[in-house]
Amino acid sequence: MQLIQVKDKLEGSIKGLEIIENEIKAGRVNTLGLATGSTPETLYAEMIKSDVDTAEITTVNLDEYVGLAADDPNSYHYYMNQLLFSKKAFKESFLPNGLAKDAAAECARYEEILAAHPVDIQILGIGTNGHIGFNEPGTPFDSLTHKVELTESTREANKRFFEREEDVPTHAYSMGIKSIMNAKKIILFAFGENKAEAIKETIKGSVDVKCPASALQNHPDVTIIVDEEAASLL
Ligand code: F6R
Repeated sequence: MQLIQVKDKLEGSIKGLEIIENEIKAGRVNTLGLATGSTPETLYAEMIKSDVDTAEITTVNLDEYVGLAADDPNSYHYYMNQLLFSKKAFKESFLPNGLAKDAAAECARYEEILAAHPVDIQILGIGTNGHIGFNEPGTPFDSLTHKVELTESTREANKRFFEREEDVPTHAYSMGIKSIMNAKKIILFAFGENKAEAIKETIKGSVDVKCPASALQNHPDVTIIVDEEAASLL
């Protein structure tokens, strides 16, 4: 694990983009794995400003809420379209389908997409409970794309995006921990004091399902970019 400590989210996003750009320019990126949430917002804004050519790059996202249509303003489809895809050209982009009728078939379909488009760089944020994607504590490390019941803490953390608390979905589709670990290179970003405990467990804790991100200790190429606050317990 390589740890890069920066001053703030902007500096961290620029640093992360620099790594991604270098990989793209070296011809090593066919598929980019993307995340949503507040963590990568600045990264996407900087990516849009950058002249790096992404028109031949395929993207796959980590997750999507169950029950939300692609045009629902709270869906991750909508988030990606608003923050990145409508402003920067990519070859094609995949996210789980929140409206899929058959959950098992949707998970199998998504794993087929991942098999056809192996992820070269996966961008990750981290939950305050150490989740990556929507892999909550206790998720087996050999998990593939699956339907997840969101924990109360995750629903609580994400309710800021919704008008009413009861609108926060209870389930999501998420790439599994194994699906994430299949990426050749992983960049995890964490900004803010509320991520400090999760970052400490990820880097210094034991490799244990109680902190899903601790699985990353077993990956050969992980860069963790943290601001001073997220690094405060290291
Ligand atoms: C989002 C995702 C989540 C978030 C995490 C942190 O696609 O998979 O794991 O990265 O919940 O969320 P923020 O960035 O909003 O603090």
